Amino acid sequence: MTPQLLRATLFHTPRDPFREERALEAYADGALLIEDGAINGCGDYGAIRRIYPDVPVRDLRGGYLLPGFVDTHIHFPQVRVLGGLGYTLLDWLEHNTLPEEARLADSDYAAAIAREFVPALAAHGTTTALVFGSHFSHATALLFEAAEAAGLRVASGLVLSDRMLREELHQTPEQAYRESTELIRRFHGKGRLLYAVTPRFALSSSEAMLEVCQTLLAEHEGLRFTTHWNENVREIVEVMRRFPWAEDYLSVYERYHLTGRNAVLAHSVHSTPAQLERLAATGGAVAHCPCSNAALGSGFFPMQRHLQAGVRFALGTDVGGGTGFSLLKEGLQAYLLQRLAPEPYLLRPDQLLYLATRAGAEAMGLQEETGDFRPGKSADYVYIRPAACCPLANALDQAGSLERVLGWLFTLAGADHIEEVAVAGRVIHRRECKPLA
Ligand code: GUN
Ligand code: ZN
Repeated sequence: MTPQLLRATLFHTPRDPFREERALEAYADGALLIEDGAINGCGDYGAIRRIYPDVPVRDLRGGYLLPGFVDTHIHFPQVRVLGGLGYTLLDWLEHNTLPEEARLADSDYAAAIAREFVPALAAHGTTTALVFGSHFSHATALLFEAAEAAGLRVASGLVLSDRMLREELHQTPEQAYRESTELIRRFHGKGRLLYAVTPRFALSSSEAMLEVCQTLLAEHEGLRFTTHWNENVREIVEVMRRFPWAEDYLSVYERYHLTGRNAVLAHSVHSTPAQLERLAATGGAVAHCPCSNAALGSGFFPMQRHLQAGVRFALGTDVGGGTGFSLLKEGLQAYLLQRLAPEPYLLRPDQLLYLATRAGAEAMGLQEETGDFRPGKSADYVYIRPAACCPLANALDQAGSLERVLGWLFTLAGADHIEEVAVAGRVIHRRECKPLA
């Protein structure tokens, strides 16, 4: 690929704005130098141009360049359950969601879902995602193949359960071990794909199944781990009934060493300071899914507590418990709910950007590859360009500060405003065109 210089207003958070000063780097007239799929320079256009006077420039002024979004919690088989309102978690699973997940037993149906799911990620600016696969091995393989063909960075895995769901969705622990091992051999480390060991949640997992998870993680280098945790009060009561030896929900996962640095636990709505301190000590991260937490009435995410305990967290859309694929919307929802939470936290735009990008990369252990525009990173970007009639079009002239412009983007921008999305410098989505994959 010949080098190119992208010229636009540019934002990224190469540092953690919850812990460090001046974490946001923003340039009204910015430039991103891309060479062989990697970022080779990022800064003020004039300064970068002086260093690289001969590199061809793509003039993207009038729009905004952000690092590709990272979705740390999303379900592949749930595209078509979006919009099922009026439930709480356990009845939502039973009546709205598991019947649909069972339909992926049919390979043609699963392939159709993969064709809906993967382009939707790209169209919303998501370049990296930790994805709950299917309970069916063939469907999970179809997701991996579609993600690879599209060029996305995806960690996913066979969803494991051996009780409490529907019979068709259960595997025996032996089958779970065998099928997971096959998928790991086929997809883990292939291009940008990674494998994530994925028990659905403790409620649908026997101790033997959790032991399988522990074994898989011990047998293969670099696997990720993901599951649900502390989402809903009824779920927690049921988990405690089924694991009578457990001190609390976290201790179920702890017993099988499933809370380490490779772990991303989704929701953490009802976590106590003591549990969060234990999670911080083992290094596990949390996927915060504010749209889902509100839509399913799960509760307020205790952000203050996570910050105090030092637990890392990042955003997840939780399609289809959530309300769609947009991490911009998820950022705004996090802001809105934290204003109203019993222990409120006033989120700033730089923190929203971090939670939608670099924090996700850190949670997934991919911070050396993606999440910001530091030189050496993969050129994963989202280009937002509002139409002339949109209030966003005037943000740069009217907002007064670049931080305020970022606030406008999280408040007003959505998939309709995303003109181009790239991974490793290769365009994977262009507005109004079919995805290139
Ligand atoms: N807990 C177990 N399964 C699910 C799921 O599909 N979505 C959410 N939000 N929570 C879960
Ligand atoms: Zn979920």
